[in-house]
Amino acid sequence: MTSEKLRLGVNIDHVATVRNARGGDYPDPVRAALLAVEAGADGITAHLREDRRHIRDTDIAALKRGLSVPLNFEMAATDEMVAIALDTRPHAACLVPEKREERTTEGGLDIVGGREHLAPRIRALAEAGIRVSLFVEPEPAIMDAARALGAPVVELHTGSYCEAALEDDDARTARELARIRRAAEHGDGLGLEIHAGHGLTLGSVGPVAALPQIRELNIGHSLIADAIFVGLDRAVRDMRAAMDRARHP
Ligand code: PXP
Repeated sequence: MTSEKLRLGVNIDHVATVRNARGGDYPDPVRAALLAVEAGADGITAHLREDRRHIRDTDIAALKRGLSVPLNFEMAATDEMVAIALDTRPHAACLVPEKREERTTEGGLDIVGGREHLAPRIRALAEAGIRVSLFVEPEPAIMDAARALGAPVVELHTGSYCEAALEDDDARTARELARIRRAAEHGDGLGLEIHAGHGLTLGSVGPVAALPQIRELNIGHSLIADAIFVGLDRAVRDMRAAMDRARHP
């Protein structure tokens, strides 16, 4: 178990979503990333989707050039994305399942059924010095499978917990949080570095941030949404403060 600082990775995909609504270059995701770093982000996450619906290839290159903090490249485990990662050399790559028709990444990777597909791609990224994480459902058996695949990091999908919290379903929220806790404890015991993310808001981040095994949270949509009302600087600072309060009550 570890109680090291909980890092905040800010996902800037939806700055690109707003930009792409009108084409052109404004608002610029790199500018948002730099602002988020000023406000306390420890890293920046960006998901280059197959359909390029938000982040574009040129954004990834510009983020790599312009950032002084780690870039976490979220990607499907396809040959195209592996080639882009090997070319860009981000600090980290987070492998996610991707379906064209989904609005956002709906579930974790099938790392048991997808083992043969994933293993060589994880190896290629790791050999290039890129830290690989697997975006997975919070289940102990999946931690075992991630360990067997040789990935050093897992990111636990917090979507079901956040959905329950948004619906004020206290019993389900507690059950989902317990699932995350069990997976975090089990994964940490296996030597995996534990991250978490998806759907987290100022209202739901506390109980997840309080889990001592979790080393990094990746948060996007709610920060960009809150930024509409309070500005990105304030939104990131508020999130950072909520995480710190939960971690060190
Ligand atoms: N982590 C992963 C692996 C994701 O796919 C996403 C969504 O792109 C996030 C974190 C951030 O989720 P949200 O935008 O809901 O905060």
